[in-house]
Amino acid sequence: MKEKLFAEAKIAMERAYAPYSNFKVGAALLTEKGIIYTGCNIENSSYSLTCCAERVAIFSAIAQNERKFKQFVVVANTADPISPCGACRQVMNEFLSRSMPIHLANIHGEMMETTVEQLLPYSFRLHKTDQ
Ligand code: THU
Repeated sequence: MKEKLFAEAKIAMERAYAPYSNFKVGAALLTEKGIIYTGCNIENSSYSLTCCAERVAIFSAIAQNERKFKQFVVVANTADPISPCGACRQVMNEFLSRSMPIHLANIHGEMMETTVEQLLPYSFRLHKTDQ
């Protein structure tokens, strides 16, 4: 399944809208039911409005009422497997279980397996004190 997700992420990567950075990223998220949601980065001339591939994939799944995920693959044309940005790590922390396998890859198929726990240790929690 990891290989299938990798193939889907690469297809998604080719759909990236990245005319400003020319840096294409693809992501493929597998649900517990076996459905795959993909995402690519989508840039904007107002740069900060850009959305990363990881968030596009996760938000697509959430918008289809999916909540339970099994595996995630992210791919880019990088020397080492891509390392997700901080914003995406925070979004992963919101929706993926902390121990779910996340495979970071480059287009040559070099992969490293990680988790939200490893990507975002000591993550923010919305806990207030009593007073
Ligand atoms: N980008 C992603 O899609 N995912 C990441 O994990 C890092 C960065 C995109 C955002 C922007 O379109 C381009 O890569 C360069 O930063």
